[in-house]
Amino acid sequence: MPRYTADSRDRVRDAVDMLALVSEHTELRRAGASEYVGRCPFHDERTPSFGVNPVEKVYYCFGCQASGDVFRFVMETEGLDFTAALQTLADRFGIELQTEQEDPQAASRRQRRERLQALLGRAATYYARYLWEAREAEAAREYLLARGLREEMLREFRVGYAPSAWDRILTASRRAGYSDEELLAVGLVQRSQNRPGQVYDRFRERIMFPSTDARGNVIGFGARAMRENQRPKYLNTADGELYHKRRVLFGLDRARAAAARAGSVILVEGYTDVLALHQAELQNAVGIMGTALTEEQIAELERVAKVLVLCLDADSAGQEAMLRAAQLTDKRNLELRVVPLPSGDDPAELIERAGAEALRERVAASVPFVAFHVERVFEGNDTRSAEGRDRAFQQLLPALKNLRRGLFGDELLRGIAGRLELSEAQLKSLIEGAARQNGRGGGATTTASAPELPIDQAGRAERAFLALCVALPEAGARTLFEIDPEQLITSQAMRRAARHLAGRTGSPLADLPPDDEPLARTVADLVARAGRAGRVSEDQLVHARLVLERARLERAIRRARAEGASGIGELAREREAVLQKIGQVVANLERAG
Ligand code: UTP
Ligand code: MN
Repeated sequence: MPRYTADSRDRVRDAVDMLALVSEHTELRRAGASEYVGRCPFHDERTPSFGVNPVEKVYYCFGCQASGDVFRFVMETEGLDFTAALQTLADRFGIELQTEQEDPQAASRRQRRERLQALLGRAATYYARYLWEAREAEAAREYLLARGLREEMLREFRVGYAPSAWDRILTASRRAGYSDEELLAVGLVQRSQNRPGQVYDRFRERIMFPSTDARGNVIGFGARAMRENQRPKYLNTADGELYHKRRVLFGLDRARAAAARAGSVILVEGYTDVLALHQAELQNAVGIMGTALTEEQIAELERVAKVLVLCLDADSAGQEAMLRAAQLTDKRNLELRVVPLPSGDDPAELIERAGAEALRERVAASVPFVAFHVERVFEGNDTRSAEGRDRAFQQLLPALKNLRRGLFGDELLRGIAGRLELSEAQLKSLIEGAARQNGRGGGATTTASAPELPIDQAGRAERAFLALCVALPEAGARTLFEIDPEQLITSQAMRRAARHLAGRTGSPLADLPPDDEPLARTVADLVARAGRAGRVSEDQLVHARLVLERARLERAIRRARAEGASGIGELAREREAVLQKIGQVVANLERAG
């Protein structure tokens, strides 16, 4: 970043037309000798409380206390830092900026960068002209227009076409005084493998999308194949002096002001998606180009808006990208939302098929990331089985651990608890337990196989029941034959143990499968508990089973409530009956002392 002189700054301030500047964002009317008022561009309001003094060139809002000078105004409305705001205003009002004395090294680095940027800018101009004028580019023009992209939009984004010849850019750039070394440095040419020392154009027969830095300088290209068997589909500028893939966000220079105004950025996957969204008047859209969102991109986005709206393909790569975005935004002050797209569509295709309004409606109906994620998980798992509920819980866990408490979070947890047939308290303690276990960082919970849930109160009751089955092998065998572990037992470990014990209560350890260590450990633990229990009665077993029945009915009731299902009355009656039986057994046990 160059440092500009204080004098440059003053000259820019002097040159700015404050009324013209502010009027781009809100309508102003005169309200005094040197005072104008309008509706505040920084908050929603119906009656104007935003004052501008065009002589002092300052603004002040009585509603939201926003205030500042011309630079602050541009920084806030366009999401720029001070230097960039200064540069923007200097460009617009025709002031040449003077930089502070640079040390010679910094000066030569800047000159080099400017030269390379100019080289890329020339190439972009060349490709763009070629798209609109060359015969050879006719198919590309037709293709783009047939996809519903309008010429003005293609021109605004400087979309171009690279000729099929091997040396157009090379020759033109050499003629303009650039060296092969410079052409290599920006990735416009590459070395020949057959003829050492020779270079040739890297991009040929491709539609060219220029990528820019925050100020709109071209730093590289994404080049889309035009021929059937041309690979890869997109050939991108390799990382180099100017282009750093991890930092680039396609279209950010054009989206910045709209994003700052809207308070949100829409993230899409591809180049054409960005163009399509801008054309649909969603000008706060930027492209992440493929799916791997990076820390650097998130850091850049954070400076522009506080809400990220993911509008990615509904395919699995898109889903993956959303999870990644969630991880990256987790510790930041960013709100993540998701636009649910019909599966198989990317935003550009949706617009093509259903029109701009259809996409705008979907964007307006975006949902918080967690809610979206929860829906996905429940779609993917059958919660009628205990195993399905376990899997759903495992998949939800990472998102739930980071869930912020509050009305929304609590509501979400209530819904999840119901669908998992857990009480809210149980769900919360499971989540906390898992978070603690992770915190210890042994890595044990992140193995490929699903980690065992930490044992909770329900799990303890189930363990006690199974230990009694082992302690009373005959009654235990009968009981295990009668019950359905799917229904009665919620802990995955205990359910597997129950299945193993069925028919084997007399010799639980005899035929454990050799390669199932978790099962072996659980069963061994049950045997040890049975041994410690000493003399136990059959009533104790009956009691333990009834406790599980009661829990099962309570889960079913919660679930029915969460889903608004009928039949709650019937379940409640069953529960009543179980409670009565429990009362009887407890009385028996007390009598037996
Ligand atoms: P897509 O394959 O979804 O392409 O890749 P697209 O944007 O929909 O392209 P069109 O509409 O068919 O022309 C999404 C993005 O992934 C990156 C590009 O940035 C592309 O826009 N990509 C894709 C690559 O970098 N290389 C590839 O080979 C493919
Ligand atoms: Mn796509």
